[in-house]
Amino acid sequence: MKPVIIASGKVRPVAVEKLQSIADFRMYAGGGQPPEEMWAAWLQEADALYATGNIRVDEALLAKAPKLKVVVQSSVGYDNIDIDACTRRGIPVGNTPGVLVDATADLAFGLILCSARLLHVGWEHVKNGAWGRRKSMGFGVDLANKTLGIVGLGRIGAAVAARAQASRMKVVYHNRTQRPDDAALGVTYVSFDELLATSDFVLAMLPLSKATEGLFDRNAFAKMKPTARFINVARGKIVDTAALQEALQEKWIAYAALDVTDPEPLPGDHPLLTLDNIMITPHIGSATVETRDAMAMLTVENLLAGLAGQPMPACVNPEAVQKKA
Ligand code: DGY
Repeated sequence: MKPVIIASGKVRPVAVEKLQSIADFRMYAGGGQPPEEMWAAWLQEADALYATGNIRVDEALLAKAPKLKVVVQSSVGYDNIDIDACTRRGIPVGNTPGVLVDATADLAFGLILCSARLLHVGWEHVKNGAWGRRKSMGFGVDLANKTLGIVGLGRIGAAVAARAQASRMKVVYHNRTQRPDDAALGVTYVSFDELLATSDFVLAMLPLSKATEGLFDRNAFAKMKPTARFINVARGKIVDTAALQEALQEKWIAYAALDVTDPEPLPGDHPLLTLDNIMITPHIGSATVETRDAMAMLTVENLLAGLAGQPMPACVNPEAVQKKA
């Protein structure tokens, strides 16, 4: 009997092909939440869940999936998954760290560059036939000799730091604990408050958790320089959106460039979209052909390992397997 593998959202064709060859693979590709009745029937039979960020994997879902042996997701973040609940049931959860480092770092650096040089504004200017009035677009600012402050310096943060250093930026960072390799990376550890007060560009790279939810609030924005540019490529909910809006409107900070928002997707009539000192991309940090394929294939490897009761290449809760054994 082939295992039943269900997916709550679109899966890359390269992974679909593999999964169809070994399993009864069912994919909901309609966008948004899967229809309730169909989804409940799929869960009832599922051996494996290929989750996507549109669903919450929590007690309520797990209770509907009595045969479930493994949960995987094609992302490094897993804030939509209740890891403790999965662990309690002996269900390992796989994610995809590593393979998206360069793509996400490129996007983060692209947003830093856009916030400094307003590339997108320049393009609109030209498209609107306003090139001859170039001065009306105003000037950008240099990256060289400016300070980039990275809040949450993991692998992606380190890759952004290298890109920033190539542009001759100074890089400071704040983590819960200082990295032992920070001197080798050429980055300087500072307190959160010092980072906010001294950085020209503040890059948020933190995972979403109870501790980081709303971390960038009125207080945080009030501590930044009026010339600061704020960039978020992590999760929308680490920012208090109303506070960011106020900070941009009142010019407490100069600019924001976001790849993630709260809510997400951002509705077309959201007040943030009325501001002229912001640019937003639609959560495309890892969205390149090569990276998304690599993420999908790592997800498949995780899934197959989980089904076979073997250690996954990338597991968030390896203790789940020991619990089951
Ligand atoms: C990730 O991998 O967490 C990206 O943000 C995509 O969700």
